[in-house]
Amino acid sequence: MTPFVVGLNGSPRREGNSATLLGEALQGAEAHGARTARFDLAFMNISPCTACDECFSFGECVLEDDMSLLYKALEEADVVIVCSPIYFSGISSYTKLAVDRCQALWARRKVLCVPRRPGHGAIVLCAAQPDARFDNAVSELRAFLLGIGIAPKEVMRVPGAGTRTYVRESEELRASARALGRAMVNLTNPGPWP
Ligand SMILES: Cc1cc2nc3c(=O)[nH]c(=O)nc-3n(C[C@H](O)[C@H](O)[C@H](O)COP(=O)(O)O)c2cc1C
Repeated sequence: MTPFVVGLNGSPRREGNSATLLGEALQGAEAHGARTARFDLAFMNISPCTACDECFSFGECVLEDDMSLLYKALEEADVVIVCSPIYFSGISSYTKLAVDRCQALWARRKVLCVPRRPGHGAIVLCAAQPDARFDNAVSELRAFLLGIGIAPKEVMRVPGAGTRTYVRESEELRASARALGRAMVNLTNPGPWP
């Protein structure tokens, strides 16, 4: 079966560092035979979680917005790649909005005990400071992936990305992101690929 790779971009910059890294990772995945879907979270209509706990009953969120597209894709994904810029040593607010709304998928797994087929996750983070702190963001996105039933496998950290073209100008970083996309597809089907 064709692996399905879902990518989330939590930056509001359409062609910034996270967007570029995600684009390259998805290209690498497609070149390796995957089908992909991309969600640029900053341009979607996503409301914050209201902690109503309604999802604890049926695993469905009562809010009606673009999250319905994301829930479907995340449930069908073999691979989830989450990209976020570092904001104040954590993930961006756009990323966090979507992460919190995935409480509905967490409820399916952890409250209602509805299993999903195995899925693999990658975390991609970029920050301006050469000595930026990534640990908060990694910890939060690992918890997110595990919570929705995806095993975190890879983390790519890009410090020093102080301009929006930093990644676009680095063939090395873009190649690393493509390699990440390929590696994630390999995890879904280690057999036929060299
Ligand atoms: C609100 C805000 C907070 C930020 N906080 C940090 C930070 O704590 N540490 C850091 O190294 N860079 C920080 N940055 C810089 C971004 O992480 C960096 O420019 C990143 O490459 C942006 O990625 P993008 O082009 O995908 O949006 C911050 C930027 C913004 C807009």
